Amino acid sequence: MTERCNLLITNVQAATMDPSIPGAYGAITDAAVAITGDKIVWLGPRGKLPKCTPDRVYDGEGQWLTPGLIDCHTHLVYGGHRAGEFSRRLGGESYEDMALAGDGILATVRATRAASAETLYRLAKPRLEALAAEGVTTIEIKSGYGLNLEAELKQLRVARQLGQHYPLNIVTSCLAAHALPPEYDDRAEEYIDLICTEILPAAAKEQLADAVDMFCESIGFSVAQCRRVVKCAQQLDLPIKIHAEQLTSTGAAAMAAMAGALSVDHVEYITDKDIAVLAESGTTAVLLPGAYYTLHETRMPPVDKLRAAGVTMALSTDLNPGTSPLASLRLMMNMGCQFFGLTPSEALAGVTRSAARALGLSCSRGVLRPGMRADMVLWPMDSPDQLAYEIGALKPAEIFYGDNHVKND
Ligand code: NIG
Ligand code: FE
Repeated sequence: MTERCNLLITNVQAATMDPSIPGAYGAITDAAVAITGDKIVWLGPRGKLPKCTPDRVYDGEGQWLTPGLIDCHTHLVYGGHRAGEFSRRLGGESYEDMALAGDGILATVRATRAASAETLYRLAKPRLEALAAEGVTTIEIKSGYGLNLEAELKQLRVARQLGQHYPLNIVTSCLAAHALPPEYDDRAEEYIDLICTEILPAAAKEQLADAVDMFCESIGFSVAQCRRVVKCAQQLDLPIKIHAEQLTSTGAAAMAAMAGALSVDHVEYITDKDIAVLAESGTTAVLLPGAYYTLHETRMPPVDKLRAAGVTMALSTDLNPGTSPLASLRLMMNMGCQFFGLTPSEALAGVTRSAARALGLSCSRGVLRPGMRADMVLWPMDSPDQLAYEIGALKPAEIFYGDNHVKND
């Protein structure tokens, strides 16, 4: 470490989430962390801190420091809401039936197309702020409610604008292959042409998309159609991710993993064969318990098998107006444990280290270690197990975005 640093945090317990540090959470007790600019420059037991002159010292009062939380799968920029569908689903209608009747995703497409960028921005703010208040410092935001050139770019621009306005790191994915827009009824291949020849190239040119996502399902697109989108993304040098195996087994997860996907998301219906492909390719499985809960699903992602195969498991809100109107990543940690059988430490890894991996950000985020971004959260708790266990009252004491820190009161 250089002799000067901008900020020295002392007297903390660090849940580094660094797998090279033995024990749950990669914990270091009575730790100190030195930060210069937006990076951690030293981290270790306070007793071993080299002599240094910090511009500022922060006493953590023995509280726990974790990496900033990462929500790696959200659809948080959209118009309208679907509370009416919520009631219909409670009355027995299924998500698929409403989608086939032109509601579901397409209802949100109508509302999103009709909304101005200013309106979308205004509607997105409280969703983003709810996540930020619980210690989320990186959020992935997808398009997918525009489904034409203009409206897809409008959603992505709003996502970028949120990233300019807030200290959070916003990562975007173009999900133009989310549903077939009504003007392309019965012409799915032509819509894929539009995605490949116009929407993705324009998003890439304006640097609006950090990745390309797609929805492979009977009510979305086929594996062959998704494969075309994958090829196009590869030509544009954009990483891919996919909504796969949510409602049925399609083989999409293996197709995407073999093509080098960063993540395959949902995976309730993933097969043993496809799990082996994920393990081999190093693709992250993103578990989305909010959608599982909202849709009253009974088929769980095969967490034991994924764990045994060594597949990295991330956790995310899937925040969207249809299947997960739930702006709480902490609640997802709780559901990941309660519904899917994750351990509290796997749940925290799922929203830090593994979520960073799902976004291709492992080199800079998700773990507390010298060289990484100093996105960190200080929690008034005795044990990091409390993060998955206790919902509502346990709030960050302080959120650090590099050497800027925000008291959370
Ligand atoms: O991840 N599966 C497709 N997309 C979303 C749902 C979007 C919606 O219903 O508006 C999901 O669950
Ligand atoms: Fe989703």
